[in-house]
Formats: sequence, C-alpha cells, structure tokens
Amino acid sequence: MSVWSEEVQERARAIVARYPEKRSAIMPLLYLAMSVNGYLTDEGMEEVARWVDLTPAQVLSVASFYSMYKRERTGKYLVSCCTSISCMLAGGDDVLAAMEDESGVPDGETDEEGLLTVEHVECIGSCGGAVAVQVNYELIEGVTPEKGRALVRWLKEARPEVVNTDEMQTLFGSRTSFDWAVKEEGGAVGPYPAFQPLGTVRGGDE
Ligand code: FES
Repeated sequence: MSVWSEEVQERARAIVARYPEKRSAIMPLLYLAMSVNGYLTDEGMEEVARWVDLTPAQVLSVASFYSMYKRERTGKYLVSCCTSISCMLAGGDDVLAAMEDESGVPDGETDEEGLLTVEHVECIGSCGGAVAVQVNYELIEGVTPEKGRALVRWLKEARPEVVNTDEMQTLFGSRTSFDWAVKEEGGAVGPYPAFQPLGTVRGGDE
C-alpha cells in the first residue's frame, strides 16, 4: 500500500507513463518524493522503489550519487551559490561569504529555525551570468555580495510562499547569460525543483 496521498500517486502515475521503462522514471519520482517530505526519507525511497520495481538499495544508489537529492532536511529556502571557475573568477566566493555572514548560516548548514540552508554548488550552467545563485533551484544571475545580502534579508523578512526566477532576477540579479531563459512558469514552493509540467506548484501540471 502506498504511503503517498492519492494526489501524489496521480502525479507518480503520470510520471511513470512518460517512459517506456518504469525504471527510467526514477529521477523525477525521487523529486516527487522530496516534495512530499521536504527531503528524501527512507520511506520515500522505498515508495519510489515500489513504483519502479527496483530494490530500495538500487534507489539509494541513485539518490546518493546526485547532490540535488537531499537526504537530510534542508531549510524552507535552499540557497545555492556557484563557486566553480566562471563564478569564482567573478567573485562567487565573496557572494557565498556575504550570504553566510548575512544569514549566520555556514556553507552546507541550515539555521535552527529551518528557514535557510546555504550551500556552495558546482557549475549550474549559467557561467555567462556569473555569479549564479539559486533559491530552491530558481536561478538568479549576476549576483554581487551586496545583492546576495539583500536576497538573504528578503527571504528572512518576506518569506515568500513561492520563489520564482523573474522576480528574484529583477530584485537581486544583474548581468544575464546570452541564452538566459530556462525557468519554470510557476516558480518553486519548496527546496526541490519545480520540474513543470509535473511540478511542485499546485496546478502546474494542469
Ligand atoms: S561556473 Fe558558475 S554557473 Fe558555471
């Protein structure tokens, strides 16, 4: 018997139906499991295993390989700062340090309230818009240390239910990539990707 609600199972069925082989659905199902609990629980991974006819150990082997699958609870807002080469050369380490300082949260940790997780990440594919930052995987390009501080203050004060690229880019970004455009229409409601049209925003898959 499923531990997921009927609504979540409906999304799982739609995801599985997109692939000729059930097991190919494992990655979007892991994101779906994350959206249920906020992170990947053992129970969530066991549920995914049942949906794709694999063992929990096989599911864990996928989940543990990718850093975007969080197996511990993160904050309501997962703030990820790229420090790979392009962003590093444009001041990514300074942006990260500013956000750590403003939030009081060291790299890789979460505040006591469970509001903010701050982390450095490897290249997120927006090198032309360095420094690149994501909040719940919604992208902001051209972030400076001061803008990074302002972003943290905004998250702490405004506490938006949905974060989206367009709004954050206007408020906290500057230079963008020449191929800037990868964004989700509805934004993200938690520390996991929106991956529309089977997304985490209610109604996004309609
Ligand atoms: S190096 Fe930062 S996005 Fe590529």
